[in-house]
Amino acid sequence: MTEDTLIKAAIAAMPNAYAPYSQFLVGAAICDENGNIHTGVNVENAAYPQGSCAEAGAIAAMIMAGGTRIHQIAIAGRGGNLCTPCGGCRQRMREFANPDTPILIADENGLRQRFTLDELLPHSFGPNHLDKPDHLDK
Ligand code: THU
Repeated sequence: MTEDTLIKAAIAAMPNAYAPYSQFLVGAAICDENGNIHTGVNVENAAYPQGSCAEAGAIAAMIMAGGTRIHQIAIAGRGGNLCTPCGGCRQRMREFANPDTPILIADENGLRQRFTLDELLPHSFGPNHLDKPDHLDK
């Protein structure tokens, strides 16, 4: 899976976002351990806190499809600032990714910047704190 393929999938998802309140469309695309792509978009709600992020949608799609690990994730959103994931989504990704897992931040034109999970969420809390392996048996 090339970075470009994954980034294009995240950009292609953006128009499907439901973001009538912020108008900030976000698309996310995960490449799982089998090379399958799972996409998600943000889904807002009139009761604001009930909205969900694109990353959360993509993770749910991956789990539903039988994927278990995030090998790479691309996140695409418009604007002058990088569309870096919120704190909650950094923790959500932490559950299924490794410290060196690439997180590709894009806008509607393509890649802006590459991070690793550990760069975005250093000293993270994870399954190991609960004496669980990173990759739980099903
Ligand atoms: N949002 C995401 O979906 N992912 C991010 O990485 C940052 C923020 C969404 C949440 C909300 O619907 C909108 O962007 C504005 O915060």
